Amino acid sequence: MRQLFMTTPRPLPLPSVPIRSYWVFTLMLLLSTSNARGQADVPQTSQDGSLIEMHSPNGQLHLRVWIDEGGLTYALHRYRSPIISRSKLRLHVSEMGLLGSSPTLRTTERDTVYDVWEQPWGEQRYVTDHHHELALELQEQQPGPHYIVRFRLFDDGLGFRYEIPAQVGVNTLTVLDEATEFALPGDPKAWYIKAFQWNRYEYLYASGPTSTLDTVHTPVTFEMEDGLVVSLHEAALMNYSSMALRQTEGATLVSTLFPWADGRMVYADMTLRSPWRTVMIGDQPGDLLTSTITLNLNEPSRINDTSWIEPGKYVGIWWDMHIGTATWESGPNHGATTARTRRYIDFAAEHGFSGVLVEGWNQGWEQGWVGTGDHFSFTEPYADFDLEGLAAYAQSKGVRLIGHHETGGGVSNYEAQMDDAYALYERLGIRAVKTGYVDHGQQIARPAGDFVRPDTVYEWHHGQYMVEHYQYSVERAAEYRIMLNVHEPIKDTGLRRTFPNLMTREGARGQEFNAWGDEGGNPPEHTVILPFTRMLSGPMDYTPGIFERSLPTKPANQINSTLAQQLALYVVLYSPLHMAADLPEHYEARPTAFQFIKDVPVDWDETRVLDSRIGDYITVVRKDRHSEDWYLGSITDEHGRNLAAALSFLPDGVTFVAEVYADGREADYRDAGDHLDVSNVLVTSGTEFPIRLAPGGGLAVRFRPAGSEDLRLLPYAP
Ligand code: NOJ
Repeated sequence: MRQLFMTTPRPLPLPSVPIRSYWVFTLMLLLSTSNARGQADVPQTSQDGSLIEMHSPNGQLHLRVWIDEGGLTYALHRYRSPIISRSKLRLHVSEMGLLGSSPTLRTTERDTVYDVWEQPWGEQRYVTDHHHELALELQEQQPGPHYIVRFRLFDDGLGFRYEIPAQVGVNTLTVLDEATEFALPGDPKAWYIKAFQWNRYEYLYASGPTSTLDTVHTPVTFEMEDGLVVSLHEAALMNYSSMALRQTEGATLVSTLFPWADGRMVYADMTLRSPWRTVMIGDQPGDLLTSTITLNLNEPSRINDTSWIEPGKYVGIWWDMHIGTATWESGPNHGATTARTRRYIDFAAEHGFSGVLVEGWNQGWEQGWVGTGDHFSFTEPYADFDLEGLAAYAQSKGVRLIGHHETGGGVSNYEAQMDDAYALYERLGIRAVKTGYVDHGQQIARPAGDFVRPDTVYEWHHGQYMVEHYQYSVERAAEYRIMLNVHEPIKDTGLRRTFPNLMTREGARGQEFNAWGDEGGNPPEHTVILPFTRMLSGPMDYTPGIFERSLPTKPANQINSTLAQQLALYVVLYSPLHMAADLPEHYEARPTAFQFIKDVPVDWDETRVLDSRIGDYITVVRKDRHSEDWYLGSITDEHGRNLAAALSFLPDGVTFVAEVYADGREADYRDAGDHLDVSNVLVTSGTEFPIRLAPGGGLAVRFRPAGSEDLRLLPYAP
């Protein structure tokens, strides 16, 4: 196994409850001593020890765990609604046998946690972690090694994991299989992408009855027959393989890990901790978006000084290559020239962007970028790209270059150059790097270097080898004060809490699919499924903001959204690094619409979902972390709709100016015309604000407190 570099764990701040939360904290602790149904908050154990129960802090979730002739099983209810019917917990470890098959209980530990912690950046500033914990120490044989299954029950979901602590007689550990079951009641509708496919996570989401699923990635989201929404995922994926879910019988899903080339799932030395398996539950789809379970199940930051980590918006030499008007490789049409980069730096400085991404700056692109990574240099620029001069020029204008490392799946080549490459960027003041791993599924070459297989073997992007590579790059990047934006990533499982330099990633079909192939791009419903699936895992670098939606160089393709929707995506799809993806001249031609991209923040105090239906529409509001402004984004699928938003999130007694960017009468995603209506009106917290969305349309609004010069504006009137 590769020796991973580990940063020193940061000491836990004590206490981490901010003063303004003190009274909430005290009240919650008092409330947590009894729950809504009058049951004690601590787990209950049946007299013979075969059934152990626990309620969530407010009593609405009820977990039961059995240890009996059926082995180790669990079930989860929300009041009377079953969420997970009785399901098996099993982990097959070569050195210990099939854990969970016939265990005996050694000890039970219980705990209650109430904590409020602050994110350095994010969708919300303060995160509350309130849960009850149950840790069962179990043993399959006596005498024999023991293991722990730890459950954390929040009011909106469950996390649990397998742990094998250090103990005499246990040296290496090999996971042969994990068979954690999730038996869903009935046959709920699921939204999913298939796992074990060649294009990693880059597929359109499908939907259908759970009983028809094959093997799917997580997060996978369900609408239960009683209307509740549930999503299954994992948190804190480190030193393990990622989990897919395979349909077995009816609506029962079972965990399936991505194997190493030798068929084993996970290797560990002495101790093992699986990622948390999570069940998120909401009354409304929007509740899933604001759940903080995934973050809470990750460890606190290991980076002490986060002052160099800065969310921001960027432009870049990127779309030109995707629409075919420039090339990554050097030649007559090379995109990353010194002159073009200076133009982007000037544009960024003029319009307040903090970063300029430049792709195709480094040598090696002649061989292509799909599975051809061994040719890339990460330190040598092309002759027509003055890396040092441009980095200095950018900084002189208050902008920083954003670096780019497309590995083409050549992971060994990247690891060999990683320190030099990050050190170079650090020396030049480059603080963010976009990485890429374009290679087909199970095609990542690994020099096995052992006696059994001295040659090269091929690994999945989602197996333990790559999980550890992605982790290694985040930790090395932190050493050089570099933020990462990872394309073709491992899925997000909330590690940004532990490594706040892990800013954003792709991990789904992004905007670029609108410029590729002959499929016609992402259909309008794609962006109203993403918030309830991919986005539940964490931020996404979707690269919104394409204003010129007809693509003369790609006649088979189009951008399947209105101009207003391109703006609304900045609010709906959260990313701390958001790109304004179009060409500068396309923004310069539309300064009014461009103003919204210039204004919209990427770091928020608070996020609320006002209204949503999976695959149909969503309306999100977010409060800027650095001003009193609120922003609203609303988007729809291919159907036009009339919705409304109660502005009760605004503070009472304050008049706000709503700067409205709405679909015009003629707007339609099938029409590349701009058709954008921009207007300013006065609103208050009592206003019921209409949302008229064209087919494939959107609405973007900035709410800012009105100044005296604004009082000439008309109040909004229905
Ligand atoms: C795929 C990435 O998603 C895209 O953003 C990038 O431009 C290309 N790879 C080339 O690295």
